[in-house]
Amino acid sequence: MRQVSANKKMLKNKKIIVGITGSIAAYKTPLLASLLVSEGAKVKTVMTGNAGFFVGKLTFRTLTKNPVYSDLFDPDADFDPEHIALADWCDLLLIAPATANIISKIAAGICDDLLSTLALSVKSEKTMIVPAMNSKMWLKPVTKRNVEALKKDGCLFSGPAKGRLACGQDGEGRMPEPADILRAVRDYFG
Ligand SMILES: Cc1cc2nc3c(=O)[nH]c(=O)nc-3n(C[C@H](O)[C@H](O)[C@H](O)COP(=O)(O)O)c2cc1C
Repeated sequence: MRQVSANKKMLKNKKIIVGITGSIAAYKTPLLASLLVSEGAKVKTVMTGNAGFFVGKLTFRTLTKNPVYSDLFDPDADFDPEHIALADWCDLLLIAPATANIISKIAAGICDDLLSTLALSVKSEKTMIVPAMNSKMWLKPVTKRNVEALKKDGCLFSGPAKGRLACGQDGEGRMPEPADILRAVRDYFG
C-alpha cells in the first residue's frame, strides 16, 4: 500500500461524515477514518445495518471519539431529526465503501434508513461516493446509469479501482486504498 504523511493536519477542523455500507471492503474504512482524524478532521460515522456484519461500531467510536449513528428512529436523539442535524453539521459526506445498493438508493432518492435519508439531505456537491463491489455488479448497465445520474447531479466519485476482488477474481470494482481516498478528500478541500 502507498504511504501518506498523515500528520500535516491538512484537514484541520473539516467536518466529515463517513458512511459505511455492507461491503466486504468495509474492513479498510477504520484505517481511512483514522487517517482523516490524524489529519485534523472531525469525523462522525454512519453505518447501515448491513455494514454491521463487516465492521463494529466500537472500532469507529474509538477511532473518531464520536458516537456512531445507525438508527433513523433513535429514541435518544436530540429534538432535531438526526439526519438533518448531521447534514447541517458536515462539510463532506464520504460514503466508503458504497454498495451497489446505496448507490441505487441515492440515485433514486430512496430514504429507508439513516444513511440514505442523510444522503438525500446533503447537497450532491458535498457527497463523495467510493464504490466497492464485484465487477459483475459494477459493470451492470443499471449501476452505470445510477453512477452517471449521480455524477450529473454533482456527486463526486473516488474509484473504484481495478485489482483483486474479495471473490478472488481480478476486475474493476475494488475499493481504492485508504491513502488514495485520503488524497481525493484533500483535493476536495483544495
Ligand atoms: C460477504 C458479502 C460481501 C458483500 N460485499 C459486497 C460488496 O462489496 N459490494 C456490494 O455492493 N454488495 C456487497 N454485498 C451485498 C450487500 O451486503 C447487500 O446488497 C446489502 O443489501 C447492502 O446493504 P446496505 O447497502 O444497506 O449496506 C456483500 C454481501 C455479502 C454477504
